[in-house]
Amino acid sequence: MDIQMVDLRGQYLAIKDEIDAAIQAEIDGTRFIKGPMVGQFECKLAGHLDGTYAIGVGNGTDALQIALMALDLQPGDEVITTAFTFIATGEVAALLKATPVFADIDPQTFNIDPAKIEELITPKTKAIVPVHLFGQPADMDPIMEIAERHGIPVIEDNAQGIGSTYKGRKTGYIGHIGTLSFFPSKNLGAYGDGGAVLTNDADLYEKMKMIANHGGRRKYYNEIVGVNSRLDTIQAAILKTKLAHLDAYVEEQKRLGRFERPLNNNIYNVTEWMEYHDVVANDTKVLVGLSFLFLSVCLLSTIALLLTKFVGKKGETSLRRALGASRSAIFKQQIVEVGVIGLTGGLFGLLLAWLGLQGIEVLYDAPGGLVKLDRVMIFTAVSIAVLGSMIAGLYPAWRVCQIAPAAQLKTQ
Ligand SMILES: Cc1ncc(COP(=O)(O)O)c(C=O)c1O
Repeated sequence: MDIQMVDLRGQYLAIKDEIDAAIQAEIDGTRFIKGPMVGQFECKLAGHLDGTYAIGVGNGTDALQIALMALDLQPGDEVITTAFTFIATGEVAALLKATPVFADIDPQTFNIDPAKIEELITPKTKAIVPVHLFGQPADMDPIMEIAERHGIPVIEDNAQGIGSTYKGRKTGYIGHIGTLSFFPSKNLGAYGDGGAVLTNDADLYEKMKMIANHGGRRKYYNEIVGVNSRLDTIQAAILKTKLAHLDAYVEEQKRLGRFERPLNNNIYNVTEWMEYHDVVANDTKVLVGLSFLFLSVCLLSTIALLLTKFVGKKGETSLRRALGASRSAIFKQQIVEVGVIGLTGGLFGLLLAWLGLQGIEVLYDAPGGLVKLDRVMIFTAVSIAVLGSMIAGLYPAWRVCQIAPAAQLKTQ
């Protein structure tokens, strides 16, 4: 059974009418590239994140590249980032012929350890790129303090962090530049690729806007070397519609323990979180699998029973022949016994399946923080399921063996 981490279809269906109308309006308008909706979305996005400027771009990787280009990164320069992130964070520095320098992470949060940054700073360091991994904000205060002391700009890779807060501030505008990915599975996911760069700095805004548009402010007036990285109008319309639901979605993700789960000092323990997910997913699969096995055995024994009645030459069954007993006597006895077992087994199987499927929600909702899966409960349920399957499958056979000598005695 596949348990999806992100239910994209469910997300769509919940706001289908709004989304369909937004897409249709853009198709009707045919302003597919740089339509007015892009600007509207950018304004809403910046406002939502308590920032000033936002520029929609092609994807989160482009956003990082554009941010680095805006800092005039030169070949041989260095970019300090975290050793644990998605490849794009370091990849763009390498693409621009700079060197990504990886700072070690804090084992508690898996985010960049601010204490490991300063020792990596050299005269070639042109940017520090913390990542808000799994929606958990990097510890921005010490990072900003180090960066300001050395005069190095900070780019927040906020691809996984939209909706997250650091000490009451929304991530994305804490550093000099922030970047976003609208990859479909992200909190604010497009129906394709998308990304954004964020800043409160008017000069950086102008420059990044130019870079994203072939280095020009106007069509055919290209002032610097740039790239072609735009957010499609249809994606902007989808994102603007979904932005209105972002807070509710983020709250739900937090409630489910998937996003910015607070543990100590508003930081959760990622190792524990990952183990927890694995345990829940595996045990749930085992539980659901066993309950289906259980149900199948019950079903098979019921079918076997019915075959003893309906299959056979002239109403005779091989079983009856083997037993030498009356067909209806055996059938009556079996129908009661297997029927009771089949029914009980079936109900129990359903109960297990329900329990398995509920497992995740029940545990996520557990009050008082992170609670590991109750292995005793699972072990007991699984043992009963196995035992039940055996009884459901073996009992009829055992009873037949018991009946056979008795029936033979009767007929003698
Ligand atoms: C931390 C991080 N940075 C950058 C990116 C790149 O975003 P995109 O896939 O939109 O290019 C991702 C995407 O998953 C990411 O998780």
